[in-house]
Amino acid sequence: MKNFNFHNPTRILFGKGSIAELKDQVPADAKVLILYGGGSAERTGVLDQVREALAGRAILEFGGIEPNPRYATTLKAVEMIRENAVTFLLAVGGGSVIDATKFIAAAVKYDGDAWDILTSRGSVITQAVPFGSVLTLPATGSEMNSGGVITNPEKEAKLPFSSLYCYPVFSVLDPEVTYTLPSRQIANGVVDAFVHTIEQYLTYPVAARVQDGFAEALLRTLIELGPKALETPEDYDIRANLMWTATMALNGLIGAGVPQDWATHMIGHEITALNDTDHARTLAVVLPSLIDDQREAKREKLLQYASNVWNIREGSDDERIDAVIEATRGFFEQMGIKTRLGDYDVDADGINHIVSALKEHGMTALGEHNAIGPDEARRILEAAL
Ligand code: NZQ
Ligand code: ZN
Repeated sequence: MKNFNFHNPTRILFGKGSIAELKDQVPADAKVLILYGGGSAERTGVLDQVREALAGRAILEFGGIEPNPRYATTLKAVEMIRENAVTFLLAVGGGSVIDATKFIAAAVKYDGDAWDILTSRGSVITQAVPFGSVLTLPATGSEMNSGGVITNPEKEAKLPFSSLYCYPVFSVLDPEVTYTLPSRQIANGVVDAFVHTIEQYLTYPVAARVQDGFAEALLRTLIELGPKALETPEDYDIRANLMWTATMALNGLIGAGVPQDWATHMIGHEITALNDTDHARTLAVVLPSLIDDQREAKREKLLQYASNVWNIREGSDDERIDAVIEATRGFFEQMGIKTRLGDYDVDADGINHIVSALKEHGMTALGEHNAIGPDEARRILEAAL
């Protein structure tokens, strides 16, 4: 196992009715800005629950944060916070709203050009306005991690950042608020959490038994419950398990002390920057092709994944690896997510664009061995057409 330094300061308030607990978590004397997305939180009544929990407090609201949150929108919130001397932020939404809130929290306290936060991947951040979240879409793990991703169409860029200062102080996870999610978003969430787990697991063995065991349990849970969540949308236990799985998939725990491979995400981000494809759908296209391409480097873990997650034990090594790649693709398709670039209108020209963008953004040594450069990315994308 590799050395690690693990600390996660985010308090989780989990379960039915837990939004009411906001009254004890948001500092009583804070001037609060509630941030939300395009209107789902208003329609579903989640915002009303939040307003009720914080009745009598000094509150402002900022709505309209887009999926794949836009840089220009975050700057408007920064201005509002500075003008109104806001002291605490509360994100109400999915990964996009929480990511945007993290960026805004850091940008308010940053004296230079906020764009530096993204070009430095967050390393220029030295402080942030404290913030909490009410999660409405289990997927990204943003509710319990320190990262975010911001999109700037003017620069054709979708860039990640992270900072120790960007952990939520708390996150409220009430599985009942996920009942209103359209199946498209449930499927996206399951696939995103699945790929997060895979990218911290499917590398090479380092005798990290606990991390591997946790990762395998998360993967099996997603495979078993993902399709059921589509069939029975109001099953509390299914939604509760999916919500906690997505959080655990990217809160640092399974990634501590193991090699990581974020190549699928970095290539996927460029597809979203190109044509706004949903984040999880880009991952479902790239991952099967990437693990096929990298099957030698990942051989031992692929065989472990086949056996422990999919119970594939028959056949030669290569046959089991072929079978597990097909099983993975089949799972994404079963969730209603297409796995070919052509399904998202990306052709050979699009691949040229994605490979140039990877170079431009310095994403030229991806994967657990830094071995996925522009040529490998092109090969992976061509095989995914
Ligand atoms: O905007 P509103 O109207 O709120 O609607 C949203 C949005 O249209 C809707 N929604 C959310 N909760 C709902 C709901 N609709 C009905 N009922 C509810 N309870 O769902 C749509 C998608 O929301 P979004 O927040 O965009 O989805 P997600 O949580 O998948 O977040 C995606 C973003 O997170 C980034 C992605 O790149 C993308 O920008 N990621 C963040 C990560 C992190 N911080 O660690 C890691 C991930 O890999 C990912 O890159
Ligand atoms: Zn993701």
